[in-house]
Amino acid sequence: MESSQEIFEKYQIDEEVGFALPNPLEELPAPYDEWISIAKNLPELIDKNELREKVDQLKIHSTDALKDHKSQRLAHLALGYITMAYVWNQGDGDVRKVLPKNIAVPYCELSEKLGLPPILVYADCVLANWKKKDPNGPMTYENMDILFWFPGGDCSKGFFLVSLLVEIAAASAIKVIPDLFKAVKNEDQNALQKALCYIASCLRQAHKEFEQINDYVDPSTFFNVLRIYLSGWKGNSQLPEGLKYEGFWNTPQEFAGGSAAQSSIFQCFDVLLGIQQSSGEESASRFLQEMRKYMPPAHQEFLLSLESGPSVREFVLSKGDPKLRADYNECVKAMVSLRNYHLQIVAKYIVIPSNKQENKGTGGTSVMTFLKSVRGTTENFLLRDN
Ligand code: HEM
Repeated sequence: MESSQEIFEKYQIDEEVGFALPNPLEELPAPYDEWISIAKNLPELIDKNELREKVDQLKIHSTDALKDHKSQRLAHLALGYITMAYVWNQGDGDVRKVLPKNIAVPYCELSEKLGLPPILVYADCVLANWKKKDPNGPMTYENMDILFWFPGGDCSKGFFLVSLLVEIAAASAIKVIPDLFKAVKNEDQNALQKALCYIASCLRQAHKEFEQINDYVDPSTFFNVLRIYLSGWKGNSQLPEGLKYEGFWNTPQEFAGGSAAQSSIFQCFDVLLGIQQSSGEESASRFLQEMRKYMPPAHQEFLLSLESGPSVREFVLSKGDPKLRADYNECVKAMVSLRNYHLQIVAKYIVIPSNKQENKGTGGTSVMTFLKSVRGTTENFLLRDN
């Protein structure tokens, strides 16, 4: 395994912010500034019912002049917001099933360049949608903001920024991955214990960050507003065949909506700790595998590279040392605890609000079954005392 510096470069991981995009751009030069200005004013345009008209009037721009990665990511983020807004508009069931070519063509071209699907993904709305208010200040909720908003006021900021802070806290552990593999290779138990303790502490910090969701995200606004704009068109009865990307594909395409299930960080620690989600329910494992296609290709490759690394779990098992086993278990416990907490949050933000609606059937039950299965599989990987 390479040094952490080499890993960071090869797999587009940042030392400070992990899988998040470091210091994302906020502006694009003409003619792309047109996209930015629509995306920036989305809530207002939707409210005045002018959004679709604005999009229909857009000129078609080639994406050739968008050369560097950060410009491409910003354009993908802005076009993603505009696309979600165009399809769902006021979130009242009046949906569009065709994305006009003036936006569909550049969006699909750009998506191909980035290796991302043409829908708003976690890598857009969380990983590339942030800035520090005071550039010299800390990475805290108070000193940060998002770049683009959906209707629903501060709900977008709360949901996207808290997700980002969870992500960044957990990502501090990436830098010890080479130490972890080196320790296994050299059978250096002390070094391994040190790396495992560090990983567990980062995961516990991620849990603390997660708790902030209660302060910043209102369940009813999340459920009734933001969730609509994040919905995709895969298995969605409102767009049963998917979305037609005019001028790019002849047939409608299905893509799943944006969710933190597209984050690489949980999958990264599952792999590192040898927690095989594939040993759990097949549908859960298939879903997590599918979510990898919504991650930036460099991050997908990183997960694959970890899968071919030495097995930390096998090493811990082979040693039969209770102290080492306890340190390994602390990491697995931290993953279980994160997933437990996540289940509580999903109950609060999806299941309870959906029960309040007359028209139930929002899939709350199947979501809980899936998440419980993933949590259960994680728990099964705790090493029991012999
Ligand atoms: C209001 C807050 C949240 C809600 C309502 C929520 C909801 C969901 C739902 C419904 C799923 C099932 C898959 C899907 O439908 O896409 C899911 C999966 C997932 N979410 Fe969240 N989520 C929230 C916050 C977060 C945060 C902050 C993170 C961490 C950054 C996160 C990480 C995950 C992961 C990793 C999965 C995949 C399952 C797993 O690996 O355990 N979620 N979430």
